[in-house]
Order: sequence, then C-alpha cells, then structure tokens
Amino acid sequence: MPSRLVVLVSGAGTNLQALLEAAEDPSYGAQVVAVGADRDDIEGLARAEKAGVPTFVRKVGDFTSRGHWDITLTDTVAAFEPDLVVLAGFMKLVGPEFLGRFTGRVVNTHPALCPAFPGTSGPADALAYGVKVTGATLFVVDEGVDTGPIIAQATVPVEDTDDVESLHDRIKVAERSMLVETVGRLAREGFTITDRKVRIG
Ligand code: GRF
Repeated sequence: MPSRLVVLVSGAGTNLQALLEAAEDPSYGAQVVAVGADRDDIEGLARAEKAGVPTFVRKVGDFTSRGHWDITLTDTVAAFEPDLVVLAGFMKLVGPEFLGRFTGRVVNTHPALCPAFPGTSGPADALAYGVKVTGATLFVVDEGVDTGPIIAQATVPVEDTDDVESLHDRIKVAERSMLVETVGRLAREGFTITDRKVRIG
C-alpha cells in the first residue's frame, strides 16, 4: 500500500504539484490523499482540485482561539489517516495538539539551510546577510521555528545579480527535487530519529 500523504499549503503550491506528479507513478510509494490550507482562493488548492484530491480550509480567524484551530486542524487531518503530513509552504505554525497527534510524522520544507535563516523570510535574510550559498531544508517538525531534525538539504549558489525573487525561484527548483526524492524515500524505506539524526531506511 502506498504511504498516505496529507499536504498543507498556503500559496502557489508548486511543491505540492511536484508531489502530485511524482505520486502518479505507483512505484513512487506515496499518494496525496488530501490537501489542506489556512486560506481560500490559492493556487495550491486549485492544483489539488484539478488532480481530484480532496481539499479543506481551516482559517485561524474562523476560530475563537489558536487552540481551537489547532484541534480542528488536527481532527481534520487525522480523518484522512496520514502516514506522513507534509507542510509545503504552509505559513502557519502547527500547534501542540497537531504535533502530539502526528509526532515525528510531520515534515516541513524551508527555503534556507537550517539552522541559518529560520522564519518566513529565509531567502531575503540570506541575501541580506551576503552568504554565497543557500538552499532548502526538509526537516521533521518540532515545537520550534524551523528547528527540527534535518532530513535532507539542497544547496544553490547566490549570484551577485540576485534579488529576493530570483534567489527564491532558484531555491524552489532545488527544493522541489529534494522534496519529491526525499518524501518518496521516507515513504518506501521508512526512517528513524536518534539524537536529532534522521536515518532513512
Ligand atoms: C517554498 O519555498 C517553501 O519552502 C516556502 O514557501 C515556498 C512555497 O512555495 N515556505 P510553493 O507554494 O510550494 O510554490
């Protein structure tokens, strides 16, 4: 049986699209069983609908507290019985209920080389700092911001002519390949985490 992936998005969904396309091949070992978002009218949701994948939206502002949002998001995702939850450009921190329910099974992709430049402006922060190399990191989500055990990283050069958009675009090309390759391996081979070290297979 292929691993069941629930993917959460907040924007364009190009990482999601790469996963959807990879999962068309049965030998990939994983299928996207649902796509969730924290906002309406985003391309990520449209991509899921086009692929015939069920979608849901849970907006923080629709709940009386962040805690209620966390519980509802957790229950909604759990109903799809995921083996792995992939945060692919999901611009919210998931809460304690979510992490408790899916401990060690939530992965996130970040457009910087962790532990450098955590948070929502990784490419801009890398550019401003003047690093010559940056990239993307896939990690197992913990309660911190981009602090969890690292599963895979991909590097790209920073060019003298880069602006934030050109740098982020270059990162995203490397990020999508890394995400697709690594999620497939996680699904097919399994993984363990010991003292922060993630071992696949
Ligand atoms: C990715 O670079 C992700 O790491 C960051 O936002 C971007 C989302 O891209 N948090 P997309 O929505 O998958 O196109």
